[in-house]
Amino acid sequence: MQITVKPFENSFAAEIGGIDIQNSVNKQQFKIIHESFLKHKVLIFRNQPLDDEAHQNFGMLFGELDGHINKSTRHKALPSVQVFSNVKPNGETTGVHPEKGTQVWHTDKSYTATPSLTTILRSPEIARVGGDTLFADMTRAYDTLSENMKTDIENLFAVHDWVRSREKSNERAATPDEIKAAPPVKHPIVRTHPETGKKSLYIGNHSSHILGMKLKEGETILADLEAHATKQDLIYRHKWQIDDVLMWDNRCTMHCVEPYDAAKEKRSVHRVVVKGDAPV
Ligand code: OGA
Ligand code: MN
Repeated sequence: MQITVKPFENSFAAEIGGIDIQNSVNKQQFKIIHESFLKHKVLIFRNQPLDDEAHQNFGMLFGELDGHINKSTRHKALPSVQVFSNVKPNGETTGVHPEKGTQVWHTDKSYTATPSLTTILRSPEIARVGGDTLFADMTRAYDTLSENMKTDIENLFAVHDWVRSREKSNERAATPDEIKAAPPVKHPIVRTHPETGKKSLYIGNHSSHILGMKLKEGETILADLEAHATKQDLIYRHKWQIDDVLMWDNRCTMHCVEPYDAAKEKRSVHRVVVKGDAPV
């Protein structure tokens, strides 16, 4: 079986074929996956019926796994695996999307000092209507800013804050444990990718305001940058099929899940997250 890389038309993402990640990934295959990951930012592997252990093992190829701050959705036996599901054990839907913060543009764990390098998501249950995952290419978003704007934001830092992020997405308030585990952090708004050296915008819902600037002024700049980055022509829309495995580079993309009817549609994703570097 020969590994294949098929870039999507009119998109930055690519589909990787000719590989069975459940069994093993050899050195040469890993090299191609890694190169494609840096080039395309979002990779799709179709027809990969992984179990949680194989999912976790695949994640560990890319680095150290990082648990989610929300302990209530951790997999009971494999705490590096997080399950976001609106399906109850009896098969009925809960009627609510499990993590509202995923429905707004964000990059994973930017509210920590060492945010996620990649998130690897699979979808045992998919919504029939809605529930697509959308991705924005933040390198292209940076490249397409005006030169004036690039200069204006060059040395700015945003504060990323789990507490504020929850407020903005109308989620339950952060718990005292979570507040202790994730105090606000600052990251540059223009981030240099540690592997490719390319500059990207590094913003999203976890960013609350700009350091050293009036709150409202910073919020407006962040909102304007987000609007620019999430214009339709910069988006990859992933329409899920059962047994898709999706991985993305959190250092140069943002993502969100499109709304769906959480009372009617069953949607479950399992995810592992690989820890990254402190943004510079
Ligand atoms: C995530 C996330 C989006 C989705 O797992 O980090 O944002 O489509 N998920 O479920
Ligand atoms: Mn996410």
